[in-house]
Amino acid sequence: MSAMMARMMGTSPGISSSPSIASSPPPSSQSSSLPVRTIPGSYGWPLLGPISDRLDYFWFQGPETFFKKRIEKNKSTVFRTNVPPTFPLFLGVNPNVVAVLDVKSFTHLFDMEIVEKANVLVGDFMPSTKFTGDLRVCAYLDTSESKHTQLKNFTIDTLKRSSSIWVPTMVSKLDTMWETIESDISKSGSAAALLPLQQFLFSFLTKCITGADTSTSQEISKSGFTMLDSWIALQVLPTVKVGLFQPLEEIFLHSFAYPFWLVKGGYNKLVEFVEKQGTEAIQRGETQFNLTAKETVHNLLFILGFNAFGGFSIFFNSLLSSLADDKNDGIQEKLRNEVREKIGTDSSKLSFEVVKEMELVQSFVYETLRINPPVPLQYARARKDFKLASHDSLYEIKKGELLCGYQPLVMRDSKVFDNPENFEPGRFTQEKGKELLNYLYWSNGPQTGSPNEANKQCPAKDYVPVTASLFLANMFQRYDSVTISSGSITAVKKAS
Ligand code: HEM
Repeated sequence: MSAMMARMMGTSPGISSSPSIASSPPPSSQSSSLPVRTIPGSYGWPLLGPISDRLDYFWFQGPETFFKKRIEKNKSTVFRTNVPPTFPLFLGVNPNVVAVLDVKSFTHLFDMEIVEKANVLVGDFMPSTKFTGDLRVCAYLDTSESKHTQLKNFTIDTLKRSSSIWVPTMVSKLDTMWETIESDISKSGSAAALLPLQQFLFSFLTKCITGADTSTSQEISKSGFTMLDSWIALQVLPTVKVGLFQPLEEIFLHSFAYPFWLVKGGYNKLVEFVEKQGTEAIQRGETQFNLTAKETVHNLLFILGFNAFGGFSIFFNSLLSSLADDKNDGIQEKLRNEVREKIGTDSSKLSFEVVKEMELVQSFVYETLRINPPVPLQYARARKDFKLASHDSLYEIKKGELLCGYQPLVMRDSKVFDNPENFEPGRFTQEKGKELLNYLYWSNGPQTGSPNEANKQCPAKDYVPVTASLFLANMFQRYDSVTISSGSITAVKKAS
């Protein structure tokens, strides 16, 4: 295990926003002296146990309380439980998992010698491959599959190549986004942030990832992002709490998987668009990574739609909420001062390098990723029997058992983070803060790790925080302050 972690401490390809810090031993490395304990918790009666857990998870408790209550009840951060989806129409899905809810036990999810990741992106339930051209795309492949190596390297290469257009494309699309928001505020007093944000993300990411310009198709430019939204929603609905009126949510959203044909029209239009406009990327997949055109197109769409657009839509929303939170009073002024000191208000000065010098901006981004990891659940299946360590005990895991980590709780482990429940914008500054990057896991690996074909860490591990830093820097070049309330922007004060 420690060898694997040491490998992950190297520098990452392409850009690297990670500071080079002395790699402190990961919490999983000093465990042999711990007492062996039987995993507490149970799966309950057949059918009844899973249904009762499902109702707690989605309805009576919600995911966070669900896991918290079971930590309290079992007096352990490692325990057996069920997670949805379950009976009636998910008969082939096994809801039994071993929850791993502290920093130390969670790290086992990254160790590809002891776990495998085939088809477990959202748990034992896997959405139909009809959503992805009848193919298993990269995120569902295990590292032992040669196709994973081809696709992971293709993705890493795609990101690397896009780095020359990433910043200028982002700035130009952000100009359009802020103009729309300003115009909405002047017309109706406020602008819902999500819509312009998703339009910006869609055009920016489509250009950088597939090379295609959305403005070449009126339909894609106007509705492409909603096609992606509904395509993603149908895949993940059985596993996600939406917050609709109960029991309607249980009956209509969590009892069966919705079929692909409901979103087939939109998805096929996106496929056609990428086939036509993304020819360079497709050729690269074929000639340099030995992929078929079909594999390249559906993987590009999954990376663009599910990974990038889906991930950033959630993450930027929580970034705006962190800026709006009363508890972070005065933070906008501090961020603005740091941005203006480094680059003033000239957007042509924005670059990957310059935002890496903005310590508070970066720390604010990392703290948002800690408090609100955009992908809250991670799964991995035991490749063999092994002993899993928490901070205080060892547990015997049998080959084939499914581990489930709920990151929002893991990232508030008091053994690692001081005042873990508090949002502390400067937490990741200075030497002590940089050391904490070893334990920031939003990307399915430490922020000091290195995504490659031998692991399942997000290939955009560095791009995601640096893009969020660019977003904030651009915003505070443009505005002195932005007033955000319940997902809407109600006022912007232009840079004085
Ligand atoms: C805020 C944005 C993003 C978040 C929160 C995010 C998060 C993650 C997470 C948690 C995983 C691991 C999933 C698992 O195995 O359990 C992952 C994997 C992956 N991500 Fe990201 N990601 C983001 C953006 C991106 C972008 C921009 C790209 C590519 C351009 C990307 C491509 C991928 C791919 C291909 C994988 C699968 C890796 C593998 O199979 O080895 N992601 N991402």
